[in-house]
Amino acid sequence: MKIGVCGGAGYIGSHTVLELLKAGHDVFVIDNLSTGSKEFLFDEARFYEVDCTHEAALNQVFEIEKRSGNIDAIMHFAAKLIVNESVSMPLEYYTNNVYGVITLIQAMRKADIKTLIFSSTAAVYGDHKTGFCQEGDVCQPINPYGNSKLAAEMVIQDSAKAYGLNTCIFRYFNVAGAHPSLRLGLDKSTLTHIVPITVMAALKQRSHITIFGDDYPTEDGTCVRDYIHVSDLAYAHVLGLEYTHTNKSNEIFNLGSSQGFSVKQVIEAVQKIAPCEVQIGARREGDPAKLIAVANKANNILKWNPQYTLSDIVRTDYDFRLKRLNDKENNRDKVSN
Ligand SMILES: NC(=O)c1ccc[n+]([C@@H]2O[C@H](COP(=O)([O-])OP(=O)(O)OC[C@H]3O[C@@H](n4cnc5c(N)ncnc54)[C@H](O)[C@@H]3O)[C@@H](O)[C@H]2O)c1
Repeated sequence: MKIGVCGGAGYIGSHTVLELLKAGHDVFVIDNLSTGSKEFLFDEARFYEVDCTHEAALNQVFEIEKRSGNIDAIMHFAAKLIVNESVSMPLEYYTNNVYGVITLIQAMRKADIKTLIFSSTAAVYGDHKTGFCQEGDVCQPINPYGNSKLAAEMVIQDSAKAYGLNTCIFRYFNVAGAHPSLRLGLDKSTLTHIVPITVMAALKQRSHITIFGDDYPTEDGTCVRDYIHVSDLAYAHVLGLEYTHTNKSNEIFNLGSSQGFSVKQVIEAVQKIAPCEVQIGARREGDPAKLIAVANKANNILKWNPQYTLSDIVRTDYDFRLKRLNDKENNRDKVSN
């Protein structure tokens, strides 16, 4: 199939481009490089530096691509996703994450593209009552980022009904790790997730890791989350694409490991590789005690079963970061010689 990947130069998008290429699909990438990087592009996937909120530019890309055959589907990863930032700049989040989806669907309609695979998030569940999230549960996000993603889901679902689109909404839980080849990984100036931050403390790129609250009603008092390796997540998109395209379906799937690990357990997993200093801080506002995916639907319908463990997740992130450090040092040596 010919697939357009919006946000394909980003962390999850680039891993998915690789899985799509491996599965034999014809891929083109649209990205404005706001948080993505040219380093994570592939020669085999055509690249357009375009912003998804610019409809005329999207129309042009789709026209060019249609000259060599119909476009079967779009995968939409492009978004802003830093929760704290979304609190201080909500309009930028709604513009990018909601208006961007509206623009994309308009352009898809013009180009007669029927299938859309969308990246949503566990943040749509908000402060979930039991901590075990199912797709049919009430969604009450607690920050502008989560609100913008839920609003985008609604735009997609209403458009699917009105315009006959086939859609697949994936709600990701905590995505982490790097591609085992270490060619791809999470490399950004602003990192907020526990796995890369703890790994950076272990690599002495930061002084310590802070646990925000150790008095939650969980076994060891720290928050429990569901961690999923980025390559497992990327592969789910290949399965979701094939399912949605073949069945002309409109579905929402949680993508998680269905297992919970506490913040302390994640830190311990990193400390098995290298030690790091840990400090205990106050709770952060709006952190639910427990968020775990009930991912039976994706397991049963898409036949998707994550392969990587928590220790694979931290190991690949550690190796990726170490390799980047070594590469930088080698380049510096080359320049100074
Ligand atoms: N990383 C996670 O843990 C996580 C968890 C849940 C959901 N998600 C969702 O997954 C998706 C991908 O996240 P990621 O971690 O790969 O982030 P990322 O920042 O690495 O990737 C986003 C990509 O989209 C591009 N982009 C952003 N706005 C754009 C626009 N208007 N036009 C064109 N390109 C644009 C960026 O340059 C970047 O390459 C997002 O939609 C995010 O909400 C991520």
